[in-house]
Parts: sequence; C-alpha cells; structure tokens
Amino acid sequence: MKDKVKILAIESSCDETAAAVVENGRNVLSNVILSQIEIHKEFGGVVPEVASRKHIENINDVVEKALKDANVKLEEIDAVAVTYGPGLVGALLVGINFAKGLAYGWKKPLIAVNHIEGHINSNYIENKNLQPPFVCLVASGGHTHLVYVEDYGKYEVLGVTRDDAAGEAFDKVARALGLGYPGGPLIDKAAKAGNKKAIKFPRAIIDDESLDFSFSGLKSAVLNYLHNSQQKNEKVIIEDVAASFQEAVVEVLVMKTIKAAKQKNLKYVALAGGVASNSRLREKLQEECHKYNYEFVKPSSILCTDNAAMIGCAAYYKYMKNLFADGSLNAIPNLELAN
Ligand code: KG4
Ligand code: ZN
Repeated sequence: MKDKVKILAIESSCDETAAAVVENGRNVLSNVILSQIEIHKEFGGVVPEVASRKHIENINDVVEKALKDANVKLEEIDAVAVTYGPGLVGALLVGINFAKGLAYGWKKPLIAVNHIEGHINSNYIENKNLQPPFVCLVASGGHTHLVYVEDYGKYEVLGVTRDDAAGEAFDKVARALGLGYPGGPLIDKAAKAGNKKAIKFPRAIIDDESLDFSFSGLKSAVLNYLHNSQQKNEKVIIEDVAASFQEAVVEVLVMKTIKAAKQKNLKYVALAGGVASNSRLREKLQEECHKYNYEFVKPSSILCTDNAAMIGCAAYYKYMKNLFADGSLNAIPNLELAN
C-alpha cells in the first residue's frame, strides 16, 4: 500500500459544485466550492433542474481548479470519489457521471460516498487526534441525525427528525420573517440583536426517551405567533423572534446530543452539516460538553457547508478497505446511512 494516497473527490448533491484533492484522508491539498446560492436566492430555495444545469456547466472548471490548486496531475491521483446520495437526483447524476468518466478514462478506482458520512468525516480534517468512537450530530438543510460512529465507516443512527430537518426549519422561519434565503445564517445574525427569552416557543419531544427530533410544531408555532401579532396589530420584533426560535432549536439539538453521549459513555462529541455553523449551537454545545467532561469537536464553517474535502476524507477510509464502486454506480436520492 502506498504511503501517500491522493484522492480526487467530487460533490454535487445539492447546490454546491465542489471538488477537492485529499491526501491520506486528513490532509486537504485543495478544496474548491462553487456555490449556486445567488442563483437560487431569487426563487427562495433550490430549484432542482437549475441546480443540475449549473453543475453540468461548472463541473469541468471546478475539478480542473481543484487539481491545479493541489498542484497534482490526474495521473498522480490514486482514486476518484463521488457523492452518490442522499440528495437531488439530477444534481447527483452530474457528479457521478463525471467521476465515472475520469475513473474509466484514467483507469482509477471509483469510490462512492454517502453525503451524510462525508459531513461526519469533515470532523477528522481539522481535529487530527479525533478517532472513533464518538457521537456526532449532523444537522443540515435536508437531515437531522444523531449518529454513533463506532469505527471508520461504521455507523449507528441513534435518532432522526420525524418531520422537518433543523436547517429546513431555519429556512422556513426566515422566509416567514422576510429575512431571505438561505435562512440559517440570516436568523443567526438577527438573533444576535434579539432576546432569546422574549417568546416561549415549544421544545418538541425534549423529555421524550427517544433521541428523535421534531421541528414542524415549532415552525407552526412561529407562524402562528406572527399571524396572531398581525391580527392584533402588535409590533413584531424580528430579532426577538429569531433569537427565541433559534434557542428552541438549539436547546433540543444540544440536550439530545448530550443524552446520546451519556448513553454511549464516550470521550468525544462532534458536530457536522450546514447548521453546525450556527454560532449559538456551537456555543451551547461547547458549554454542555464542558459541564459533562466531553471533548467537543467541530469543523470550521467552510467544512460545515457542502464540500468535497469531506467526501475525499470519507473515501480514504473506504480505499484502505478496498471498498470500490463499479461502472454501474447510480444516484440514490434517499440513501440511508448504513455500515
Ligand atoms: O449541509 P448543507 O450546506 O446542505 C445540505 O446538505 O442540506 O446545509 C444547508 C443548511 C441550510 O438549511 C442553511 O440555512 C443551514 O444549513 N445553515 C444554518 C447556518 N448556516 C447554514 N443554519 C443555522 N445557522 C447557521 N449559521
Ligand atoms: Zn450537506
């Protein structure tokens, strides 16, 4: 086995066209992310067909830039990795087909990576000492998962959202507040100027024994609050609504994550996914981990968002186990996280 394994990774599951070169799983040689947010903003959310078309326009340049930034030629690459789900089918197919073409043309092994696994693995990149087992909260626009990472590539899903994903709730509430898209960063910013105790929004299934989540009731409570205030002609302080809503989401996410860590009796607690950028979530989870003596690890913001470095990291551990895909690899839009 070579002592330096370089993987070219491609990610196109939603609205970021991304490519990266990663050496030995944790050393990121390049990380190129082309976000389509400005295009989708106009529509208040990601338009699947537009996303696919933009991926196909940009993927050549993004991959070329990733190789150039890493100062690596295609012939020096040991494997090509790609996200094959979960995500938007048309968007996934662009990355998969491009990766297949490269792997076939250059006779390189192909590695298929689950997007959620990629988010979890993003923690390894900057936290060089992190080793499984650990508990990871993955919160993004499409998913909210509490995962026990037993070993590299070995996962047990402890809890999931029963309805909306955490990021989806942020996006929907932001839209109702007229803040724009994507909602998470805008609510995070507005909340800084607001009072998180101003409005008591519900904390769904927080006392429940399960490690599942639910955010649709909270979203409805915010919409009802806004509707009632309008009916009564009462002034709505957007910053207070944002702070109170954010606190309700964060409290449930943090409490369930700590509950999972206690059940598994582990050293590390990790965070991943787009919502992992949330400043209040990072602060509160840090506080609670400190209280219970867990070491809290998190990726920096650029690795919380969709990127290909995390895919290259997860792919390395599959490469080491000879877990390769073949030319029949297809997109699986609702792919589950499995061992
Ligand atoms: O992981 P990601 O980039 O894409 C998916 O796989 O879904 O996550 C995007 C989600 C969006 O819902 C966005 O509003 C949310 O992450 N997000 C945030 C923050 N930054 C992004 N949510 C709360 N606070 C933030 N600072
Ligand atoms: Zn994601």
